Amino acid sequence: MSANALFSPFSLKSLQLKNRIVMAPMTRSFSPNGVPGADVAAYYRRRAEGQVGLILTEGTVVERPASSNDPNIPHFYGEQALGGWQQVVEEVHAADGKIGPQLWHMGVMGEHRSGWTPAQPFEGPSGLLAPGVPKGNAMTENDITDTIAAFGRAAADAKRLGFDCLELHGAHGYLIDQFFWDGLNQRTDVYGGDDLTSRSRLAVELVQEVRRQVGEDFVISLRLSQWKQQDYEAKLAGTPQALATWLAPLADAGVDIFHCSQRRFWEPEFEHEGSDLNFAGWVKKLTGKTTITVGSVGLSGEFLAGFAGEASEPRSLEELHRRLDREEFDLVAVGRQLIVDPNWVENIRHGRTAELKGYSREALSTLV
Ligand code: FNR
Repeated sequence: MSANALFSPFSLKSLQLKNRIVMAPMTRSFSPNGVPGADVAAYYRRRAEGQVGLILTEGTVVERPASSNDPNIPHFYGEQALGGWQQVVEEVHAADGKIGPQLWHMGVMGEHRSGWTPAQPFEGPSGLLAPGVPKGNAMTENDITDTIAAFGRAAADAKRLGFDCLELHGAHGYLIDQFFWDGLNQRTDVYGGDDLTSRSRLAVELVQEVRRQVGEDFVISLRLSQWKQQDYEAKLAGTPQALATWLAPLADAGVDIFHCSQRRFWEPEFEHEGSDLNFAGWVKKLTGKTTITVGSVGLSGEFLAGFAGEASEPRSLEELHRRLDREEFDLVAVGRQLIVDPNWVENIRHGRTAELKGYSREALSTLV
């Protein structure tokens, strides 16, 4: 198996990448009062210097009264925060990197572990924190209209600041995903309903508005997952047909890239279909769109064995190369390895396995 595909360039509309490796969006909580500072800019610059093809920033929240549950998560609105992001873009571009912000609204959340909670109540489709657990407000249609406008403004700002693309966070049980999921969306208006297509209306309108703001040539990625932080076993689309029905209106609305979040990239998406295609593999096959895979790339077998019930067999990068060679997906996002090692790409490229660093949660306490 060759490593060539991983290090081959990639081009889509105005986005040109030197290789297929994407830094996965990862919350770091180093932006006091929502403002990313020079340390955050330097952190992203180090990943650009380390030859990451595309950096997706940590989730950064749009302008709504309670779009975040953590005061150290960056905002994507207001002069100061946007000034901080301008600095991030400049640093990454100075190192010949490419970068897109991940635009986020958390929806209904629990309070932050620090005890912090916003002054306004959280908002979501039906005022539920988890299935059957009331919390926050059910959004009115006006709230929804304002939220769509807030994402639109953020998208226009992303383009104005010189970002190379953007991503909408539609995964992991946050606001957009709360609408997709019948566990949390029990609305009876046009934004709810028994079928996933009706519950996708918010996402479709969001994508249309973002597209209107950024024009045709600017790449829009949408991150999706079947699993939710509130329920790892949740499955929005249980068959390829259901998946195709879910994604077609999103693709029509203007999504260029589906970023398909899985916890382990080698897991087949549909066990009974006689195929080992993963989530990104099925999405590419069904939509014909560019896809990003993600999930435990480069993590060691010993690390994975630390989780209950986890296979201890190391999943080598060869498995990834095999799937890329057969064009199952186009791009590969890497999360935790890039938290501990800004030079991870160069280390694997040159076979410097001795220098690969193990991930541990302590790594989150500093910006390496
Ligand atoms: C994440 N992840 C994540 N995902 C996302 O879409 N937006 C986010 O802000 C975050 N934040 C975040 C923080 C931290 C500390 C971790 C470890 C993860 C999920 C992340 O993008 C990725 O999908 C997973 O980490 C799986 O990839 P790896 O780490 O196995 O390569």
